[in-house]
Amino acid sequence: MMRLVVVSNRVTMPERGEKVAAGGLAVALRSALEQHGGLWFGWSGATSAEPATRVEPIRLGKVSYAVVDLTEAERQSYYLGFSNRALWPLMHYRLGLTEFDRSDYAGYLAVNRRFAKLLVPLLKPDDVIWIHDYHLIPLAAELRRRGVTNRIGYFHHIPWPSAEVFGALPFSATLISTMMAYDLVGMQTQTDADNLIGGLVALRGAHRDGERVKAGPRQTLVRAFPIGIDVESFRKLAAASVRAATQPIRATTGPLGGRKLVIGVDRLDYSKGIVQRLEAFGQFLRSHPEHRGNVGLLQIAPPSRSDVPEYAELDRQSDEVAGRLNAALGEFDWTPIRVVKKAYSRSALAGFYRRAQVGLVTPMRDGMNLVAKEYVAAQNPEDPGVLVLSRFAGAAHQMGEALIVNPYDTHEVAEAIRTALAMPQSERVRRFERLYATIAASDIGWWTSRYLAALTGTGASDSLAPPEPQRTVSGTRKPAARQRATTSPAAKKPAAKTAAKPVQAADDASLGEKRGSFRQRAGSKPLPNAASPR
Ligand code: F6P
Repeated sequence: MMRLVVVSNRVTMPERGEKVAAGGLAVALRSALEQHGGLWFGWSGATSAEPATRVEPIRLGKVSYAVVDLTEAERQSYYLGFSNRALWPLMHYRLGLTEFDRSDYAGYLAVNRRFAKLLVPLLKPDDVIWIHDYHLIPLAAELRRRGVTNRIGYFHHIPWPSAEVFGALPFSATLISTMMAYDLVGMQTQTDADNLIGGLVALRGAHRDGERVKAGPRQTLVRAFPIGIDVESFRKLAAASVRAATQPIRATTGPLGGRKLVIGVDRLDYSKGIVQRLEAFGQFLRSHPEHRGNVGLLQIAPPSRSDVPEYAELDRQSDEVAGRLNAALGEFDWTPIRVVKKAYSRSALAGFYRRAQVGLVTPMRDGMNLVAKEYVAAQNPEDPGVLVLSRFAGAAHQMGEALIVNPYDTHEVAEAIRTALAMPQSERVRRFERLYATIAASDIGWWTSRYLAALTGTGASDSLAPPEPQRTVSGTRKPAARQRATTSPAAKKPAAKTAAKPVQAADDASLGEKRGSFRQRAGSKPLPNAASPR
């Protein structure tokens, strides 16, 4: 019988998993693996002095976990360096923040080689291997090099930029070529899929045949699979938080009193647009002083990758901006902005979302953004809040009934907050029902089964198509086009899906950068041979 082997940089074991950050890969994979059972392999999150030479899986329920420590040097080069100072900003269209260092790249390739070496002895002939995210792009090529012939899929959780942007990365042609070692590559949106295919054609000289890419003897299927959440269990968590009057609900009726609540929940990451969001909230209060004293912004921002200088700078900057706005706009009995830099349990978050009249999800660029889906899933169907969503989040391709905004435009976001707070109940319910229908029809179970059907070749290809995007008007004043038949949370999931999509974003790689150039660190060393596909 087929066994699922999931590989990701981050692995959350059950006893460690309660306070995982909102949304995100770890939560989604945990749901997927709990449904299917199998093996989850990846970094333990810890470091040890010596590199591990073997790994012993631990079985907990339906899932076995095989986790490996990194050495501190590996954490620096593979995780903090190449993954998060080169690939992360590059993939989020932030060339000005991209730091390329040859020894980091060498470390990245070496960890992928070591992971391949440790994983091979754990594999069985019928295993289907599903590798996740940018930390592990060359892993399939390394497995193929060791003779692995199993089906291997990859899912990319973050955006994939155009060949023009990706091609700026030194060794981009070598790295993108390793994608050809996969049988299936999943992307969050069709834009990302087209960008990857365009990159393989431009940088690798591959040939495109629809959603298939051919290079040498290999053929790879590249398709969009927008990731979802476990909508039903998140809805139940939120409803329970009201019934039990749990901590978050009590807390927000305390210091926040009967005031309205606008909420943002993100890892403290520059891609999430937290500073720009605080400024937009300040702009909203300046433009609409009648709201002062009546509404507050709660920004939950658990720190992330704090050893990376750009993240430490964001930490400082968000404190500075929140402090300045609170001093300028606050009153003796009212603080407009609260930034809380800690992680909350999922049930606490569900309670906060349910209590908030506005969910402010305004990343500058995001693969999908599962907080947008969690916010909708948590709403009271009879009196729901309003989602304000960045057009640069993958979720905007599906969630056209949100108020779609350009996060670079502070005034537009400020107006969207005003529109959301003033929206009549009937309009809120109408938008909510359509958004809920969309996220329920493309939930985590849908995502997992569609992906695995495509990877194992067991699905009819037309039933695997992602929700078809339609073009609609972007902006806060014109509601997006109707997506599909309305389905309330209590009703059955609809079978057919279509989705709304905002006007396609221009390539904004150069926007919002303080530093315009692509930086390479001094003292770069020559590279070892990069992995190549077979
Ligand atoms: O979804 C993108 C992602 O980088 C995941 O790969 C990762 O698990 C998550 O964000 C959180 O980042 P980190 O593991 O670096 O804390």
